[in-house]
Amino acid sequence: MKGILLSGGSGTRLHPMTLATSKQLLPVYDKPMIYYPLSTLILAGIRDIMIITTPHDQEQFKRLLGDGSQFGVTFTYRSQPNPDGIAQAFLIGEDWLDGAPCALALGDNLIFADHLPLMLREAALREKGATVFAYQVRDPERYGVVTFDEKGQALDITEKPADPASNWAVTGLYFYDHRVCDMARQVRPSARGELEITDLNQMYLDEGTLQVDLLGRGCAWLDAGMPDSLMQAGTFVQAIQSRQGLLVGSPAEAAFRMGFIDAEQLRAHGRKMSKTELGRMLLQVADTLRSLA
Ligand code: TTP
Repeated sequence: MKGILLSGGSGTRLHPMTLATSKQLLPVYDKPMIYYPLSTLILAGIRDIMIITTPHDQEQFKRLLGDGSQFGVTFTYRSQPNPDGIAQAFLIGEDWLDGAPCALALGDNLIFADHLPLMLREAALREKGATVFAYQVRDPERYGVVTFDEKGQALDITEKPADPASNWAVTGLYFYDHRVCDMARQVRPSARGELEITDLNQMYLDEGTLQVDLLGRGCAWLDAGMPDSLMQAGTFVQAIQSRQGLLVGSPAEAAFRMGFIDAEQLRAHGRKMSKTELGRMLLQVADTLRSLA
């Protein structure tokens, strides 16, 4: 399975912070935002990752992330000239995907859960159809919202409904089978002119192959697209890291846990940032994780 990290968009809800830089490069506590969904893809066991950015921000992403070898993965960069919708990722990446199944992660989403690696690997291993994750929120009207029947079976997904039928929002992490590009080509622009990911998900739902996994209370899903949610995401990461001493959203740690890099490579990451708490924590993980595993 390959992965796409979608980090274009216009970030207008974070103006003026995003006038001169990309939203996904802004800090969420002690790391750039994109580190969080990147860690999620790595924890799903994905090593071949396409990073889609706006044309003008791409250089900065390359400076931050390089070719991926430091995390034991490979990055391919592509541009999305205009924010024409999330489902466009599959048209941009079609030749690169070359018929492979694909996970898509939005560059401004953070998912945190105890059992996350297991959940991700299950989704990645499912052969037919698509998997999305739904999470209860107080403001479902901002998202794609899932409606369920009495048996808990997903019936329908509506993008930004004015009057949401449930409070279950679809999160920014999606897994699709090898047919995803064919399906994405059938998506037509919505009233707001975007190729909606909700329409793609609805296609899988209509053919009976969309799995909607519910993220329960023990999980946190945050999107950092507005000043309050950006602040909440940072506070959340700070609380977990400083209380438990466990890292959230570190691609180096995720790569180490997945066996993509070894303890010495992880130590090199830590040494590069030796003046930071993050660097110290990476060094600690390199020394202790093997004995705990
Ligand atoms: P949004 O937050 O919906 O859009 P945005 O980032 O342009 O921000 P705003 O609404 O404040 O103007 O996008 C969710 C994620 O998807 C985000 O990481 C950006 C990404 N995205 C793209 O890369 N290309 C697109 O065409 C769209 C619509 C979103």
